[in-house]
Amino acid sequence: MTGQAGIPQAAANEQVATVRITVNGTVREATVPVRRLLSDVLRHDLGLTGTHVGCEHGVCGACTVLLDGEPVRSCLMLAVSADGHEVTTVEGLTRPDGSLHPVQQAFRECHGLQCGFCTPGFLTTIAAFLKENPHPTEEEAREAISGNLCRCTGYQNIVRSVLRAAELAEQQSDRAGGSTR
Ligand code: FES
Ligand code: FES
Repeated sequence: MTGQAGIPQAAANEQVATVRITVNGTVREATVPVRRLLSDVLRHDLGLTGTHVGCEHGVCGACTVLLDGEPVRSCLMLAVSADGHEVTTVEGLTRPDGSLHPVQQAFRECHGLQCGFCTPGFLTTIAAFLKENPHPTEEEAREAISGNLCRCTGYQNIVRSVLRAAELAEQQSDRAGGSTR
């Protein structure tokens, strides 16, 4: 039996669990089969389709979300493992006032995407990276994105986007007189 978008419904005898996850600042609750992946819960149960699923086995990075601020492959994680934690998806990077996160703004300025399929995973990965390293070198930027695959861009503009995002974040921080990253 399949449900929304082909995601299997829980079989009659299948174990289910109710998970409470703070997603992009809001507590969300869903009762799901215990074997359901976090990526499927985000996309199909919670409707957050910004998280993309490519390889489905941890290689491409398209499904990367932040779990308590750290990048994780949501295609490799069961939703029940995220119970009680905070998840940030690409939708959650946008500021409450609707303005773009510095990484989003930088991708737009530097043409860091083409088809965009890989982009949500890059954005979340880079957002977390810049919190750890606000002033990366080009080499560090390349290293930071080395776990994400892009079939379109050749990576040059993504590296430029990382460096530009660092500049934008610093400018925003200076204007705000504090951290806006
Ligand atoms: S879809 Fe998760 S790493 Fe590729
Ligand atoms: S922009 Fe198409 S896969 Fe990266």
